Formats: sequence, C-alpha cells, structure tokens
Amino acid sequence: MLPNTNPTTTKSWKKLQEHFEAVKDVHMKDLFAADAERANKFTIKWEDFYVDFSKNRITEETLGYLLQLADEVKLKDAIKSQFSGDIINQTEGRAVLHTALRAPKNAEFKVDGEEVMPEIYAVKEKIERFTNDVVSGTLKGYTGKAFTDVVNIGIGGSDLGPAMVVDALQFYKNHLTTHFVSNIDGDHVNEVIKKLDPETTLFVIVSKTFTTQETLSNANTIKEWFLKSANEDAIAEHFVAVSTNIEKVQGFGIDANNIFPMWDWVGGRFSLWSAVGLTISLAVGYEHFDSLLKGANKMDDHFKNEDFDSNIPVVLALLSVWYNNFFNVESEAVIPYSQYLNQFATYLQQGIMESNGKSVDRNGNPIDYQTGTIIWGEPGTNSQHAFFQLIHQGTKLIPADFIGFGKSLHGNQDHQDKLTSNFLAQTEALLNGKTEAEVVAEGTPEAIIPFKIFSGNKPTNTIYINKLSPESLGKLIAMYEHKIFVQGIIWNIFSYDQFGVELGKQLASKILQEFNTSATNEHDSSTQNLLDFYKKLR
Ligand code: F6P
Repeated sequence: MLPNTNPTTTKSWKKLQEHFEAVKDVHMKDLFAADAERANKFTIKWEDFYVDFSKNRITEETLGYLLQLADEVKLKDAIKSQFSGDIINQTEGRAVLHTALRAPKNAEFKVDGEEVMPEIYAVKEKIERFTNDVVSGTLKGYTGKAFTDVVNIGIGGSDLGPAMVVDALQFYKNHLTTHFVSNIDGDHVNEVIKKLDPETTLFVIVSKTFTTQETLSNANTIKEWFLKSANEDAIAEHFVAVSTNIEKVQGFGIDANNIFPMWDWVGGRFSLWSAVGLTISLAVGYEHFDSLLKGANKMDDHFKNEDFDSNIPVVLALLSVWYNNFFNVESEAVIPYSQYLNQFATYLQQGIMESNGKSVDRNGNPIDYQTGTIIWGEPGTNSQHAFFQLIHQGTKLIPADFIGFGKSLHGNQDHQDKLTSNFLAQTEALLNGKTEAEVVAEGTPEAIIPFKIFSGNKPTNTIYINKLSPESLGKLIAMYEHKIFVQGIIWNIFSYDQFGVELGKQLASKILQEFNTSATNEHDSSTQNLLDFYKKLR
C-alpha cells in the first residue's frame, strides 16, 4: 500500500504557500547577483549528467520546504514500496515493476512472493537470440531471403517508446529498415505497406492486451496483404507478437515460438524495457538494447539510494510541483537540443499525462489542487523559430527542461558549437531577459522600446549529458519515469491506471455499429448531425 496523505494538509504545503507570497515576484537575476555560489548550490553532477536547476524561481528555503514535503508525504516509503513489488497500482491490483526489467540478473524482485528475474532473463535471452538471428540473416523469410525490414504494429506504449528510441538511436542502427504502424487511420498502414516487400519483411505485433482496436485492425490488414503473396504457413516465419495475452495471440495465428511474453506488472507506457522493445533490439542490436536497460538501471539506483536533495528525479519533480501548485503553471516544455530526440516530447506526453492526469485522490475523493502537467516540446534550434516567442514574451509562465549533449555523434564541431551556443543562450535569455535600459542603449526608436523588452525570470532546468548513447538515453528516460512517480506520490493519486482512455473507446464502438447496421443510439444533437453528415459522405 502506498502512503496516503493529502499534500495540502501538510505543514510544508502551508509553509510553501506563505513562502510563495514572499518570493513570487523575486527576479532570478537578483538571486544570482546576491549569491556567487548559486549555480554550484543548485547543480547535481551524477555520472555523465550535469543537471543545473539554478535557473529556477527558488531559494534554499524553497528547496528546503519542498524536500520537507517529500518527507511528509512519505516518499521514501513509497519508493521502497514500488521497488519491493507491492501492489501500488491498487485500482488494477498490480505491482509496478518496470524497474525489474532493467535490473541485473541477481537482483531480487518478487511479485506475489514469486521471483520474477528468471522469467525476465528468459525473455531477454529470447530477444537476444532472435535479434542476432534476424540481424545476421540466419533467420529467413518464406522464400529464403534475409529480412530487410521490420514493422512494429502497436499503439500508445506499444509504439511510442520503441518509435522514439529507434529514432533517437538511429546513429547506432544496423541495416534493417524499421517502420511503425499505429494509427487506425488506414492511410497510415497503407503508406507503410507501399514500402514493403512481403518476402523480406518481419512484422512485430505489440499489444499488452492484444485487444486494442488499432493494433488488431492494422495487424489484420497487414496479414491480408501478406497472404496475397504468401500462404498461411509463411505467417509463422514473418509474424511475431509481444503480449500478455497468449491465447489471443495464438488465435491470430501466431506460432507459440514467436510469442514474446510480458507481464501485467509492466504498465504499457513503461514497457519499452520489456519485449515491447523488441523492435529497438532489432534496429540497433541486442548489445545496444541492453546498454539502454543498463543506463536505466543506473538511474534506478540513483533514485533509490541518493539523498533527496541530490536526487535528480526527486528535485525535478519537486520543482514541477512548485510551479504547478503554487505558481498555477499549466504546462511544461521539454526542449532537447538534439534532432535525434525529435519524438521525445511526444513519448513523454503519454508517460506524464496518462499517468498523472487524474482528479481523484487515493481515497477516491475529488481533488481540489492541480495534478498532471501538460507536456510539450520540440527540439532546438527548430523550436526557437516556432514557439519560443511565446515563452520569452508571452503572458504565460512555461518552465522548460533544456536537454543537451556535449558531443555531436557525427563529430561536426562547427555545427555542435553553434547548437551549443544557442542552447546556452536561450536559458540565459530566459533568465535575464532584457531591460528597458538595455533596449534604449541599443538605440531602439522610442515607439518600439516596449516591444523589445524581455521580462526574463522564466525558469529552466538544464540537463546536460556528455553524449547521446543507448546508456545515457536509458538514464534520461528513467529519470522522467521516476519524476512521474514522485509527482503522483505527492499529489496522492494513482499514476499507473488509465481509466480516462476508456469512455471514448466505448462510445467509438457504439458509433461504429451505427455506420454498418441500422442500430441507433441516443446522441446529443451535435454528435448526431456529424454522424449523419459522415454517413452521407462515406
Ligand atoms: O491508451 C490506452 C492504452 O491502454 C495505453 O495505456 C497502452 O499503452 C495502449 O493503450 C496500448 O495498449 P496495448 O499494448 O494493450 O495494445
């Protein structure tokens, strides 16, 4: 059981409220000017991570109260509970053990009193063997040709994690071309099919439940297309599945040997470390996949063992609570200064918003404080030319994580220097802004002066990593996973269910019947009009 404390009833919350009134208008520029040690005080250096959170609207007192809040909601106990395999996903009656997937073989993780490491390692060995056979060309398609293409068919956690990681690690990729089919929009699957040769394509159907409409529809469409060139027997050579639902997978016609099991104690949005990451392993090779897991495991150890004041996920989570619940900030941006992390914000959206987008506490009572943050972002420098205007000069306060890498993978120093100068300049500009006096000193015509002033005082975290590698990416993803967990604990919500996605699914299945049969359901007049409109169009 998780601890259960309404955060707003804690002493620290009250202190934070009073403290907020006292410091809300303080400019970070003045805090830096007053303390030459500020940057050093608010920086955590860990392994190849350099996390500078000094450009936040905090003082040592703020951090003290936030850390007290972590203690008062019994975060330490909650972390212990998670790692011990307790049923912390209480509404679904499940443990939450994605951390076990990346733990060393001799680690101890139990679910319902049963050791899970042997099963985990059996599946890992299967992933390794299969990857090696496909990559080396030992495993062949139905006409004896080696595989050239891999198609991941899945959605949500069965798509976003693998797709993001394969894209992020493309520098490390082998010769296999990977594709991702997720959307129920038939144009998605057809655009992918256009690029495929059935003789040399391997299909990986990923669905924890194996009941997801999108995935099953896409898998069936692909199977039909495949069977136009091959016979039923060839399915065993070209289709594999990752699922907890072995019966349903077999019902689809997939050979028992081609099933990679997963477990209900792995949440979909935290599952890329399991066989859900098979496409990652195929794309970059098992060794790199394993390094990704090892990186995540290092972050797990850091999270579990480090004191909270130097614990990266804990500090980032507390800062986010400070902005959400005291500054009433609605959204946070994630800006990676690496084109490789193009899909990172999209990936984080599911993790963060599906987990913490809740309005009922762990007692089942409605909540009267803000929970889940809205997360969005795009890589820099592109985003500088898109939405940065609003962050710099708009009316909204948008805290941002700036993620950067010291080294370019292709080694183009000229570009890397330019990229890094932008990376550093943006957080400096967001901190300091530009005063009226500075604008005047530039010789700006009087009528234009107000438009060129930047208030500054915009918070950022800088997460600076030596180099993008499978291991550092693993650490980075795990860092955000733990941030999600900490925030869920503080907000006293259940982060590991997602009932909010169900209602739309139920209604969609009812509406679908109305297209194909004479069935009618009661709808509001807007939905009814639109439904009639579509029926005429189709
Ligand atoms: O969006 C709801 C959801 O259940 C996600 O949590 C999950 O990642 C996704 O659907 C896909 O589910 P499955 O892997 O069972 O197909």
